[in-house]
Amino acid sequence: MSSVLRSAVTGVGGFLPPTVVTNADLEKIVDTNDAWITERTGIRSRRRADEGQFTSDLAAEAAKRALAAAGRAAGDVDLIIVATTTPDLTFPATAVIVQRKLGAPVGIAFDVQAVCSGFVYALSVADGFVARGLAKCALVIGAETMSRLMDWTDRGTCVLFGDGAGAVVLEPVAGQGTTADRGLLGFALRADGTKQDLLYVDGGPSSTGTVGKLRMQGNHVFKHAVINIAEAVEAAAEAAGIAVADVDWFIPHQANQRILAGVAHRLGVSEDRVVSTIADHANTSAASIPLALSKAVEDGRVKPGQLLLMEAMGGGLTWGACALRL
Ligand code: UT7
Repeated sequence: MSSVLRSAVTGVGGFLPPTVVTNADLEKIVDTNDAWITERTGIRSRRRADEGQFTSDLAAEAAKRALAAAGRAAGDVDLIIVATTTPDLTFPATAVIVQRKLGAPVGIAFDVQAVCSGFVYALSVADGFVARGLAKCALVIGAETMSRLMDWTDRGTCVLFGDGAGAVVLEPVAGQGTTADRGLLGFALRADGTKQDLLYVDGGPSSTGTVGKLRMQGNHVFKHAVINIAEAVEAAAEAAGIAVADVDWFIPHQANQRILAGVAHRLGVSEDRVVSTIADHANTSAASIPLALSKAVEDGRVKPGQLLLMEAMGGGLTWGACALRL
């Protein structure tokens, strides 16, 4: 059988800012309560970046941990992609700031903006470099300071989001072109711009000249989420040549425990194969998948050689899934 290059995840790392915001803390600033948040979302607490702590700081910490896990140094990195919807600055890209903070050499660095689906989109972009031999040591990072986009008077959104970062190192490995290979095996990416009004930020450099605040029609997004995500998961599994039933672990975007359960039910997957970090992390947008992955690798649930399926949906609307063998 012929040899093919695959992009393999060789290291995983996560970083959460230390400040914890509980549901009880939010009861003091907005008309909400712990019972509503817990029952409707599964969220109990989230982290908040401190003043002066930027998306690039969280990203750089997660990246350092992923590099250490891969046995690589910053000097090895030749590609950095940051998936974020909360960049430090309008430009340069947060990836370039991370490159400087890591002390990584001149290479390729840019951001990917697909909101909560950003990490899955960024992985597919990185795959285009790594699996073609154009990058030897890539960092793909999901990093967010969603707290900076919140309208703290809107109880329908401000209780849902948190800050954090997760990162993976991708390196080329030779495979046989079968589903037994390590690496990224298949993707399904989707976007539908007609649904913009369901989830967006009401500001930007070329429209208002301000950053803006996050706006969401949560119940409408919820309805799309379960159906769209399940379709993308099945399409990614088909692209990879695997069956959904063969997957060891599902690593979903963490938006709502009821969405995780709904997708699992629709796919006929038992919920104990779904990694959930929503209770402690809330929705960290593009950071949520690599953060959940790092948690599950750290606690020993997810092991090398296992088949994983990542999936996400968010603003755009965008959604997508990726099948990989760790
Ligand atoms: O990551 C990007 C993708 N985002 C998502 O996937 C989020 C998807 N949506 C959701 O997770 C859910 O729709 C929410 C958690 C946002 C909301 O849950 P819901 O069951 O869809 O509630 P709802 O928006 O239909 O609101 C039900 C009630 C309303 O009160 P009335 O009008 O029935 O009196 C809301 O005002 O719950 C009220 N409510 C709250 N009450 C206490 C909304 N937010 C809160 C709150 N605390 N924080």
